[in-house]
Amino acid sequence: MELSGKCVLTGVKPTGTLHIGNYVGAIKPAIEMGNDVIAQGGKLVMFVADCHAINFMKDAEKLAQIIKEAACTYLACGLDPEKAIFFRQSDIPEVFEMTSLLTNFTPKGFMNKAHAYKAAVDKNVAKGEPNDAGINMGLYNYPILMAADILTYDSDYVPVGKDQVQHVEITADIAGAVNACYAKEVLKLPKAITKENAAVLPGTDGRKMSKSYGNVIPLFGSTDEIKKAVMSIKTDCQDINAPKNPEEILLFQIARGVCSPKTVQEIEDGLKKGGMGYGTIKKMMSDEIATMLAPIHEKYMDYMAHYKDVEEMLQFGAQKARAIARPVLERLKATIFYK
Ligand code: TRP
Repeated sequence: MELSGKCVLTGVKPTGTLHIGNYVGAIKPAIEMGNDVIAQGGKLVMFVADCHAINFMKDAEKLAQIIKEAACTYLACGLDPEKAIFFRQSDIPEVFEMTSLLTNFTPKGFMNKAHAYKAAVDKNVAKGEPNDAGINMGLYNYPILMAADILTYDSDYVPVGKDQVQHVEITADIAGAVNACYAKEVLKLPKAITKENAAVLPGTDGRKMSKSYGNVIPLFGSTDEIKKAVMSIKTDCQDINAPKNPEEILLFQIARGVCSPKTVQEIEDGLKKGGMGYGTIKKMMSDEIATMLAPIHEKYMDYMAHYKDVEEMLQFGAQKARAIARPVLERLKATIFYK
């Protein structure tokens, strides 16, 4: 894919305590892809989607905390704030002006079909509650705010997980509606990029790794916490010497997601041949995970302890972002208001 001169945009929803599944499945690939975009002469726009988080977090102190954690996590994991354009969504007033204008071009039916809203309605129906019980306009309009995020920077590509593809499609439809209305290309139509076989890391009990299942290996845990989590990975009681099919072994599936190719190969061979015990494998894994995460953890703690500097970086990023956003918004306003 030709990335030179293109704008790649991604929003990070702050979610609170992160685990290693978030790291290998989302954070690391996003940063690697971002660095690649920059190396190829493209523009990387990345922001903490703090307004999208208000919906599920109205405790202001906690919201501030998870925003801080998200920003420090991405920096600690290798996002370069000099080369990327990294900021907080709420620092860009142009996005909210854009949101407000876009509502006029968005068929209400699009929002009715958006899956986050539909899922909330389904939940209500299942409980015998009125369809829209507890649903606010922030949730309902979530896709329009996301469209504004994307369209305000003339984004070409939006790397997202499968669950967000619908939102990028809605964005392209809204942009298409604006362009059709004024018979010219006012807004740029974005494309979603998804990784075909994006790794979903299983948790210690074999279900998807998720904070709500309590089956996580923490991203910023102490060595002991990491060890404890790895030791709790479920195993079967096959004889240690029996040759095993690695594909059927949870420990191996997790190792494949988090360990180096060399270690993965060693574990695979050990299981196939037999003779390598689960305890040995767990020890290898927890040592390797702890070693891999130690420098990230250290940087994270450092950013958290010097958040004033991070705030400055975010403000610097916001200035760069607004310099892109302003002319795009002006272009739209000039069209709508015939200026
Ligand atoms: N909705 C995205 C999520 O839940 C976060 C997000 C907000 C986003 N705005 C965006 C992603 C714009 C890509 C582009 O993860």
